[in-house]
Amino acid sequence: MVVGSGIAGLVTALECARAGLDVTVVTKGAIDEGNTRHAQGGIAAAVMPGDTVASHVADTLVAGAGLSDPDAVGVLCEEGPAGIAALVEWGVSFDRVGGVDAAPDAPFDSGLEGAHSFHRILHAGGDASGLAVEQALLRSVRAAGIAVREHTFLIDLVREDVPQGGAARRDASPNVLPNSTSSTAGGGIDAAVCGVRVRTPAGVETLRADAVVLASGGLGQLYAQTTNPAVTTGDGAAAAWRAGAVLADVEFVQFHPTALAVPGSFLVSEAVRGDGAVLRNTRGERFMTSVHPLAELAPRDIVARAIAAEMRRTGSPVYLDATALGAEELEHRFPTISAACREAGFDWAHDPVPVAPAAHYWMGGVATDLDGRTSIPGLYAVGEVACTGVHGANRLASNSLLEGLVFARRCARALAALPAPSALAPYASPVEWAQSVAQAGRDATDRAHSIASEGRVTTRHELRELMQRAAGVVRDADGLRSALAALEGRAAVDGDRESASVEQLETENLLQLARLLLHSALAREESRGAHSRDDFAETSPAFDGHLVVSRMRPRPA
Ligand code: SIN
Repeated sequence: MVVGSGIAGLVTALECARAGLDVTVVTKGAIDEGNTRHAQGGIAAAVMPGDTVASHVADTLVAGAGLSDPDAVGVLCEEGPAGIAALVEWGVSFDRVGGVDAAPDAPFDSGLEGAHSFHRILHAGGDASGLAVEQALLRSVRAAGIAVREHTFLIDLVREDVPQGGAARRDASPNVLPNSTSSTAGGGIDAAVCGVRVRTPAGVETLRADAVVLASGGLGQLYAQTTNPAVTTGDGAAAAWRAGAVLADVEFVQFHPTALAVPGSFLVSEAVRGDGAVLRNTRGERFMTSVHPLAELAPRDIVARAIAAEMRRTGSPVYLDATALGAEELEHRFPTISAACREAGFDWAHDPVPVAPAAHYWMGGVATDLDGRTSIPGLYAVGEVACTGVHGANRLASNSLLEGLVFARRCARALAALPAPSALAPYASPVEWAQSVAQAGRDATDRAHSIASEGRVTTRHELRELMQRAAGVVRDADGLRSALAALEGRAAVDGDRESASVEQLETENLLQLARLLLHSALAREESRGAHSRDDFAETSPAFDGHLVVSRMRPRPA
């Protein structure tokens, strides 16, 4: 059972089907509604002549600010080129040199984005890369006859105790369990995930599976300003948390530096800066040149912070000046952004446009090994909902589609390779994360254990505004503590989850993740990558580790 239908979910499903597994994709909206279709810049991989995997690895590690897991980074970059070949096989038409008249085997066209030392970003349809990937994968999913259930919302994971001997259930019986086993409550740390409880337009039901792969994306909707679509409410991560999974790096949320500063925000790809656009303050001055040697193409966290600082200093917006690229090039290379600018009333070929940082990508998530195994038997996670540690404290631009692609393929291979009785094996050593945690991390875990969740309904709007203020680009203890106090006793679902609406369940998921994020951000008393503390401005070696949170104490090593 794959939960989610972006690149990670569809690739998992395709590879599982190719391996002969019986797979169903469930997704809470229409199948193409997720984050993938909104990706603009493209997908990074060392496939261009002259580029190397080692260079891609080095750039990813630098962006990760000392927290990226080197093994995960190695896997991501080494397996990237094979993943790109698979995407081409599934029908993704990456742009090639020569434009629309290019021969089918012409070299790929490539873009440059922040903190990359090589033009290695493959793109499609100019700036409609994610859409091209999503559509090609969907065509392949349909052609493979993979079962898809749209408008099917994950209420909770279903767990039951693994029988002595750990035999996996691989029967082909219909995907229905009796309601009596549908609760995530109960079941010790060895209780395996054996299905999902879902709300569909027809009501609530349980879908049984001998493995559940979360590919449900991130939590951008936790913030008032985000580049993410409305569906990104952290449902998979929150369900995993309730089921007792280990989550890691929860405090690390990447803000994209340049979202169009209009209601609802709109991503303006880093590739625009890669092609020569610059940032200017209200006096028309380029301020990034004095911040970092790479100026506008510095790592994303640095550019986002500099923009936020400039906005605070001047009390005015900052502007992205793409006028030097010329009207024709902007229209040809960035048709989606050109249309969004027009719709917002801007003529970006002639005038700089106002931009501001917006929540974009969650580096944290459900802790997994390099094959997607979580700390719970039978539960896997891939893509943005997962935390392999690959992105560390700050994801390198255009490594997100790549992550979904590479780790989904690995997860499917791992599922296909397992003999049935081992199918429920958990992440071999979930405590590995915990072992790498600094003392403050243990504190965060302890505090997270005491999170209260009873009380009255809050509005999602309030929550998003609160998180934007308290846990945005720059944070401090006072803001984080007062946000926690403001959430004390708040709940969006009073009592019975199964009679709650999808909207209430989403808000409850956001509330639960907000608390984890605030606790973790408070515990990390340093600034590193996307986590920037006004009161702890330096990076501290005491925090050279991942903070992990779990409702269940990990098994001893
Ligand atoms: C962008 O096009 O700037 C977004 C790409 C990414 O988030 O990696």
